[in-house]
Amino acid sequence: MAVIGKDIARAVALLEEGALVAIPTETVYGLAANALDPVAVSRIFEVKNRPRFDPLILHVSDIENIQGLVAEFPDAARRLAECCMPGPLTLLLPKSERVADIVTAGSSRVAVRIPRHPMTLEVLRLAGFPLAAPSANPFGYISPTTANHVEAQLGEQIPYILDGGACEVGVESTIVGWDEQGDMVVYRKGGIPIEEIRKLVGPVKVLPHSVSRPDAPGMLVSHYAPRVPMVIGNIPELLEQYATKQVGVIAFRDTYPMVPSSRQVALSKRGDFAEAARRLFAGMRALDRLGLDVILAELVPEEGLGRAINDRLRRAAAQEWDEKIA
Ligand code: TXA
Ligand code: MG
Repeated sequence: MAVIGKDIARAVALLEEGALVAIPTETVYGLAANALDPVAVSRIFEVKNRPRFDPLILHVSDIENIQGLVAEFPDAARRLAECCMPGPLTLLLPKSERVADIVTAGSSRVAVRIPRHPMTLEVLRLAGFPLAAPSANPFGYISPTTANHVEAQLGEQIPYILDGGACEVGVESTIVGWDEQGDMVVYRKGGIPIEEIRKLVGPVKVLPHSVSRPDAPGMLVSHYAPRVPMVIGNIPELLEQYATKQVGVIAFRDTYPMVPSSRQVALSKRGDFAEAARRLFAGMRALDRLGLDVILAELVPEEGLGRAINDRLRRAAAQEWDEKIA
């Protein structure tokens, strides 16, 4: 079992030795290793059971440290960095030679971000090297938003989980890069709404959520998925359709009297996207533990943070479940 604690010096010492440490960020918990140590980085792929073709995000403490990891830092990227970092934004930029191929899965671009969590920023400042960190969950499963979520799945395989409390944003960072035409592209919807990015730097393309050859494998259609089948639609209709099944419900604001309260999650009774995002993954995990036949979910309004919430819900439901539910 991993030790769960708040000892920043211990986390840094372990990372210096090449061990993996789970770290809190404002989005989700990360599974971190010294990014300049390819052996430590390769352990991340083993522990997560993550395919080697899926590259990792580098975490640093300030903009000057991004400079050392990228070959180019275009004006628009700098403007976004100055406005949104530290915060839930990841920039995809041409990599410098310092970044090992195992980190970028051979790509010439590297993903970098400055997490907005005081404990992890302190770890980064003390360590003095960048941290490679994907979300601290087994590949394809729901991302962790508490130290206990990490412990439940990866606890056997890592020595230490730095406990920074429940994540403040609750969905992963927004990933922004530039395509061959030089147009800005949002590769993953996340904690910084697209509307905000447009306000800062003008038009952006948004990648449709299903792509056959993903630039960012986090764009794989089925991802963030519970083990129990999940179906999206109109909840009253779904409740009728699945009347003979053991169901759980994830709704935006409403609760349903015919479903036991322990089996439903209203993401935000007051309809607040930030609260809904914060509660989404913990809610999915809680329902996933109940041994249900199916989780019924509804989408939230497609605006602001709601887009990232809907993206996660759609991908959690993007499997051929029919056989499994029947
Ligand atoms: O909020 C976050 O971004 C969290 C916290 C821990 O920082 N991290 C996170 O990492 O969500 P991960 O590995 O679970 O998702 C990162 C996504 C993956 O889909 C990966 O394919 C994509 O970013 N990515 C990373 N580096 C890339 C690169 N060089 N080119 C294209 N996609 C990249
Ligand atoms: Mg992930």
